[in-house]
Amino acid sequence: MEFDKVLKLRRSVRKYTDIPVSGEELKEVLDAAQTSPLAMGDDKTTHITVVKSPEVMEKVRNACLTKSIKTGNIIDALYGAKLMIILSATDLSEDCIEYSNVACVIENIMLKATDLGLGSTYIWGCLRKLRENKEVVSCLKIPEGYKILSAVVIGHPEKPLEEREKKDKISVNFV
Ligand SMILES: Cc1cc2nc3c(=O)[nH]c(=O)nc-3n(C[C@H](O)[C@H](O)[C@H](O)COP(=O)(O)O)c2cc1C
Repeated sequence: MEFDKVLKLRRSVRKYTDIPVSGEELKEVLDAAQTSPLAMGDDKTTHITVVKSPEVMEKVRNACLTKSIKTGNIIDALYGAKLMIILSATDLSEDCIEYSNVACVIENIMLKATDLGLGSTYIWGCLRKLRENKEVVSCLKIPEGYKILSAVVIGHPEKPLEEREKKDKISVNFV
């Protein structure tokens, strides 16, 4: 897909269907993740966990249930997605550069997912609850010494992705 089209199509999807992400799609997404920039080219501080087992995914979903700020109802913070990719890192450095690393990886994942017609959502808000749930975290088999920093869900969106026109959301100054 043309790159500008990928940029315009990417959006945070908040409702996924039950159609699974195929093995080939997952491979392409993970290949894209592996091309991410990383501080000092360091690939030892970042770790990727792919949650594709339905049983583990349901445990994670239950651990991530969240109260909606708008309605007060308990909501699935993973929006029905059946696949989650969790980014962990070893001990945070003083300047927390590990968060920048995982953000780069997640952006690559989201753009590749979009390129494949898949939806994606950056997951952050519910991760504190997940981190605190030691039983569920142990099911993720994250190597010793790594801490969950961020995550992304991908899947088939309930509504097809639609191109959006660019809005200037971020302030810019020129000098
Ligand atoms: C660091 C970061 C954390 C985010 N955390 C969440 C989250 O926990 N849940 C969620 O639904 N969306 C999350 N988002 C998605 C943003 O809400 C979304 O990108 C923003 O509203 C703009 O919408 P768009 O992605 O459709 O352009 C996060 C995005 C970023 C960059």
